[in-house]
Amino acid sequence: MYLNKEDEKILRGEQGLGNQKAMEVLVAIGDIFDAEKLIKISSSHLSSVAYESSGDTGISFLERMIIDGAHFKVLTTLNPHSIEYDRWKELAFPEAYVKKQLRNIEAYKKLGAVGTFTCTPFLVGNCPRYGEHVSWAESSALSYINTVIGARTNRESALSALCAGIIGKTPYYGFHLNENRKGTVLIDVKTVLKHSSDYSAMGYNIGKKVEGKVPVFNNIPQNVKGYDINALCAALAVSGAVPMSHIIGITPEAPTLEKAFRNDNPEEKITFDRVELEETYEDRCMKESGIEIDLAVLGCPHYWYDQLAETARLLNGKKIHKDVDLWVNTSSSIMTVAKRTGYIDIIEASGAKVMCSYCPAVARNFFGWKTMATDSTKQTFYGHGVLGVDVLFGTTEQVINAAISGKWGVKV
Ligand code: F3S
Repeated sequence: MYLNKEDEKILRGEQGLGNQKAMEVLVAIGDIFDAEKLIKISSSHLSSVAYESSGDTGISFLERMIIDGAHFKVLTTLNPHSIEYDRWKELAFPEAYVKKQLRNIEAYKKLGAVGTFTCTPFLVGNCPRYGEHVSWAESSALSYINTVIGARTNRESALSALCAGIIGKTPYYGFHLNENRKGTVLIDVKTVLKHSSDYSAMGYNIGKKVEGKVPVFNNIPQNVKGYDINALCAALAVSGAVPMSHIIGITPEAPTLEKAFRNDNPEEKITFDRVELEETYEDRCMKESGIEIDLAVLGCPHYWYDQLAETARLLNGKKIHKDVDLWVNTSSSIMTVAKRTGYIDIIEASGAKVMCSYCPAVARNFFGWKTMATDSTKQTFYGHGVLGVDVLFGTTEQVINAAISGKWGVKV
């Protein structure tokens, strides 16, 4: 990979050991992927903020980088983590564990990162423009900005995004290049998608079929909500590691099918209809009504303002079951605005908690939960794998009803 004089100086250690280590990582990645050169980025977004992901080794690495003089050169925001930052005492997270989590956060802050603690950084001030090169590591968020904004990032790891943020550059390969952003698989959507959970189900289904390719979704309504696409992107990323899709008429690079495929033919055509949608709900959900739940999770990806408004409408005047925790995840800035409009008070009057730095997928099951209901296929994947709970998947309304009754599929 070509390095300019400045890059070479950094690699020789002339700008400190921290910068040298970061550059060594970027050069190694660039060489593996045959990148031509490094390009400037305008921001990075980091995962592995959770102690659950970083562990003690990750913290030690960050603290070493601080001693070695590393500091972020570009706007660098942080993903959610393993505790609720502002309310960990009230929610009874174990103090010894909290201390480790806070030490990890402190290290990121000393490196110059912004404590956004959300997987929707584009809603809280880290929103790249069309065509802008960035280095992001949260799979749902990076897929969203590639797909909806037309910003350019690869599916970065925690380490590669960290090093890119420190150097302010990333290797020029993959989704930074025009030719790799071309659509390859046509997805003909032949059913009406009414709920965010429908988009999540479709993403989960299609992700498994296209694995890593660039799907092109046709027939998605032009008035689709941003949070529905966010749900779609999150699910595509979790089941198929898809970093980018085209949605005809919405993705800036895909005003038409011809443009999405760059006048080429799709490698494959897949139809997504009612049958596939229902099969995915069945696949992600233990279907029987009456199953008792003790955890309900909304806000994966972190809820947008309209989704909190809908949650407040569904919970208004209701009480959730005494044996159920209903945790609604969002970002602190969306929470602030929703508080001003009264939605947070309505939601919390029901007994639910609105969290603004937490993600159950990178946390520990400290509370003995056994069965979780959620409106996110991504959360079903991690709920089972990380929290070790049985999972039920449905619409937001079905999840809220289950939280109120304490049982899945019981009308309230
Ligand atoms: Fe966000 Fe965690 Fe879901 S990072 S996308 S809430 S798994």
